[in-house]
Amino acid sequence: MSRSEPETSSPQRQREYADPDEGVRPLPWFMMMLLGAMTMWGAFYIFSTPSGGESSYGDQRTMAALRPPEHLAGAAAEVDGKQIYGSKCVACHQPTGQGVAAVFPPLATSEWVLGDEKVLINIVLHGINGHIEVKGKQYKGAMPAWKDMSDVELAAVMSYIRSAWGNQAAPIKPATVKAQRETTQSRTEPYKSGQELKSAF
Ligand code: HEC
Repeated sequence: MSRSEPETSSPQRQREYADPDEGVRPLPWFMMMLLGAMTMWGAFYIFSTPSGGESSYGDQRTMAALRPPEHLAGAAAEVDGKQIYGSKCVACHQPTGQGVAAVFPPLATSEWVLGDEKVLINIVLHGINGHIEVKGKQYKGAMPAWKDMSDVELAAVMSYIRSAWGNQAAPIKPATVKAQRETTQSRTEPYKSGQELKSAF
């Protein structure tokens, strides 16, 4: 074999397969169709699914299931006293209703909570700033007024503290709160002591 001969003509070369080379292969047409169809279906699904209406697409509960049970109707059916307690009162009086020794008085088995509903309503409506004895212990702190809450909310939270932690006193009706709010309308300051509360009612 002489050097001038083209290499391809060598018998050894001809016996070999050609070197593979990397070509460009288009996506098969059926894959393109499938992707197109999925995209169109996705867009159709997003636009055709109603939103802001029935909640049954996600949360399976209906409005009827979210309403409070029948037996709670009346006193404070619309609002949850426990929830209000958890957001407004729990920081001081604690989840157990035991308060914090020598700083925040307990609500569990407190004579103020279980006693005359008028007194309790006024404590919560106007607050106390001064001296109060609870379950034989002395407290001298400040409890803010809760006038900003509605009658229904106040009734709900007070009914809750009267029935939680083993407390057993009758629930308080929004109408009773409303009446107390009206009779004590001129009061702008918290009560100064437990004594003042006792003599006022
Ligand atoms: C910033 C802390 C604080 C928050 C919040 C608070 N309280 Fe009080 N509460 C006190 C203090 C302090 C006293 C005792 C006041 C005193 O010493 O003059 C008190 C006293 C009371 C009393 C009378 C005493 C007793 O232990 O029975 C009741 C009832 C009461 N709070 C209910 C509530 C309710 C209901 C809420 C939520 C709506 C609430 N408190 C939120 C601090 C707080």
